[in-house]
Amino acid sequence: MLKNVFIKDILKMPEGSHAEVKAWIRNKRLHGRLVFLDLRDSTGVLQVAVKGGVADQRSLEAAASAGRESLVLVEGVVRADSRAPGGVELSASRVKVLGGVEGDFPIKKGIGSRALLDNRHLHLRSVRVTAIMKIRARLLRAIRDWFERNGFIEINCPTFITAAVEGGATLFKVDYFGREAYLTQSVQFYQEAAIYGLERVYSIQPSFRAEKSKTRRHLTEFWHVEAEIAHVGLEDLMRVIERLVGESCITALQESGEELRLLDRSYSLEMLEPPYDRIKYSEALEILESKGVSIPWGSDLGADEEKVLTEGFERPFFLTHFPRETKAFYHRADPSDSRVTLSADLLAPKGYGEVVGGGERIYDLDELMGRIAAEGLDARDYGWYLDLRRYGSVQHAGFGLGLERVLQWLLGLRSIKSACLFPRTRARIYP
Ligand code: 4AD
Ligand code: MG
Repeated sequence: MLKNVFIKDILKMPEGSHAEVKAWIRNKRLHGRLVFLDLRDSTGVLQVAVKGGVADQRSLEAAASAGRESLVLVEGVVRADSRAPGGVELSASRVKVLGGVEGDFPIKKGIGSRALLDNRHLHLRSVRVTAIMKIRARLLRAIRDWFERNGFIEINCPTFITAAVEGGATLFKVDYFGREAYLTQSVQFYQEAAIYGLERVYSIQPSFRAEKSKTRRHLTEFWHVEAEIAHVGLEDLMRVIERLVGESCITALQESGEELRLLDRSYSLEMLEPPYDRIKYSEALEILESKGVSIPWGSDLGADEEKVLTEGFERPFFLTHFPRETKAFYHRADPSDSRVTLSADLLAPKGYGEVVGGGERIYDLDELMGRIAAEGLDARDYGWYLDLRRYGSVQHAGFGLGLERVLQWLLGLRSIKSACLFPRTRARIYP
């Protein structure tokens, strides 16, 4: 039967109410003829007291012998109890085991992070993972709401592609009926085609990167929030990014007070309020230099450099005007300094680093052909993409946001893997 009473409902019931709930045993304490069960469902945690005399003998035995993570049906009366989580206890008259357990539940206090990931299918039910997944869902909804409020049309793009967007080094090859194809790194090019009809588009779908690097912030499959906008330049693009990130993160956190307390996470909404500072790549090199990290002009900043750079910051900020050699071929050169591109990454503070990457696209046909040739790419692979510059080409810009990167930063997660239901990294494809 459809469950219609949840723990959160019981926590709100007046003392003396009769209640019945299906939930899992999170913890159990035995005190002779008194058994305390901590039950958990998707909405919260409830303490249940099963006491000889109040509950029948069969219920008392069922409660005393049920293993951790058993599913039980409990019937009882709501009592106020200041020592119980939520200030409420259910005094049970009946306990029935609906789903028993085979031996000990594999997840115990103190097992390491690797064992937790090996048992991710079982760990998902923990209150901690559940809290993170709820916040993730709220963030995603806030992002979608933001786009919808601001005139963007949602589109869904293919995952099988035939040419690299972000460089060949991180492409996953697949055998497509004897032809070589790849899993997409970004739906940007399809979005660029879509803006001629829709002008402002966004997509939320997985991207794939054959990342060989083992860092705390790289996945091989991640959820990519991407948008493309016609008739904008870099400064307007940054305004879109900072409003999207700021407003949707604030909404998600405001809706998640309970989960943030559970994760022991304090935060300030003020640090998320846009606008964010804009810092040029060349200034970033100076900041790094002053912190003892010297990078030759023209080199990309990796996870380590971004960590050092962002450590002293309290708020996110844009890093702009990256040198041409650090960026993919489609980035538009700055007309006032052709060595750099009209690009911007949003960096999260306190060591987290890049969460958004974007910029203006080359919209002039000859300039784009020139870049493709200069990078040693084959123009035939980009035939349809070049066509877009042949028919009513428009100034445009866009960006990609890594959903798990944003969550990792917002929630202060040590590893990005904690932001995923079932993380995919170079070393992990099971469960
Ligand atoms: O900076 P990236 O590579 O940019 C693009 O893919 C553009 N084509 C997007 C666009 O303009 N439409 O990736 C964008 C964002 C990064 O800032 C990061 O947040 C996330 O995607 N990202 C990853 N997240 C987790 N694991 C990885 N391996 C990631 N690679 C990129
Ligand atoms: Mg990037």
